[in-house]
Amino acid sequence: MAKVAGLDAFEKNNEEKVIDTSKKVKIGIIGTGWIAESHISSYMEMEDVEIVALADIVPGKAAKFAEKFEIKNCRIYNSDEELLAAEKDLDGVSICTYNSQHASCAIHALDAGVNVMLEKPFTGTFEEAVETMKAEKRSGKILTIGFQPRMSANMQMIKKIVESGELGKVYYLQAGGGRRRGIPTPFGTTFIEKETGVIGAVGDIGAYSLDMLLNAVGYPKPLTVSGYKSDFFGKDPAFYPAHPEYAEKFGVDDFAAAFVRLENDIILDFRISWAMHMDTCGDALILGTKGGLRIPSTDCWNGSFDKPLTVYKTIGGDRTVQYTVPLINDDGNLFYKKLRSFVDAIKEGGKATVPSSEIIYNQAIINGIVTSAELGKEIEIEIPEI
Ligand SMILES: NC(=O)c1ccc[n+]([C@@H]2O[C@H](COP(=O)([O-])OP(=O)(O)OC[C@H]3O[C@@H](n4cnc5c(N)ncnc54)[C@H](O)[C@@H]3O)[C@@H](O)[C@H]2O)c1
Repeated sequence: MAKVAGLDAFEKNNEEKVIDTSKKVKIGIIGTGWIAESHISSYMEMEDVEIVALADIVPGKAAKFAEKFEIKNCRIYNSDEELLAAEKDLDGVSICTYNSQHASCAIHALDAGVNVMLEKPFTGTFEEAVETMKAEKRSGKILTIGFQPRMSANMQMIKKIVESGELGKVYYLQAGGGRRRGIPTPFGTTFIEKETGVIGAVGDIGAYSLDMLLNAVGYPKPLTVSGYKSDFFGKDPAFYPAHPEYAEKFGVDDFAAAFVRLENDIILDFRISWAMHMDTCGDALILGTKGGLRIPSTDCWNGSFDKPLTVYKTIGGDRTVQYTVPLINDDGNLFYKKLRSFVDAIKEGGKATVPSSEIIYNQAIINGIVTSAELGKEIEIEIPEI
């Protein structure tokens, strides 16, 4: 019996992707701290990937990491530069260093002709993001930024709802989420020291919150920002009973808020927190001329919500109604999916899943908030042609 074209397409979409294991993709990891563990665990699940090199500037750290994950025959280096100078056959690197080293490591790798999976946030400063994009352009290699929530079916559903026109013209975005007690120090102080973290809550979980909303509405360019940031909790020794000395080291923000004008007449009302006397900064909202979408407060990084989305509409002229959008039962494993998409792009000559051309706007807002807060006034955001 002849197959129906539509059904064929459905079956094709549901085919298991067959992975060609005849040639291994050679991967290096730069920075073998906490998040590198998630990278290596995912790569180790891939039969077509070989971890060939590891680097960390802390003597002995990369070797210990190799031992812990039982990575045999991989070469160990003391910096990104050493690794890139010696490894002439690399297909890609995961850059898992703290924020202040993102740009230099990514530029070194791209200039060495190596594809890059760069952890979020893009960089520490906006200028570094621009320089990294220039390196990407001159290399012609892949640069993808590590926002794994993009791989979540529920996050993708938010974008589909906006793109379907269900909300009409979007004019207002409200960022939500944030933590009551969540300054990230369980693995040391690299997130909170200025020299390593550069930016605090605004660049850590704020970057996810921005990505969720901006990606949903097609990443409009930011035009102006009026920002605020504070560090009342981070600088308080009482916040760290086991390590009161961390308060001295704290050099970034633990709370930020901003009013951002985006192109296409969209307003972004932003707030994020690592610590505050409140449970959450609230739900994220997307308001449009035909409908509104409420996205339950989320920590963003894992793309999960504990409640369904709600759409608010008016029907029959004046009847206000709302309906819930059931959550998709996602199988999770967003980290695996983000790294799989990087490996697939390398193998197939594909593009970055999370491109710098979008994330440069995310970074411009983050650094715009910091600059505006320090100047105490609204600033214009200028993004150079690259
Ligand atoms: N995607 C996510 O869910 C997620 C989660 C946590 C952290 N992160 C990001 O990952 C990055 C790393 O975070 P972490 O918690 O693993 O930090 P970490 O401090 O535990 O690890 C960073 C490692 O990089 C090493 N390093 C620094 N500069 C280097 C260089 N030039 N060459 C080689 N090694 C170098 C450090 O010595 C350290 O071991 C941060 O940018 C953070 O924002 C992402």
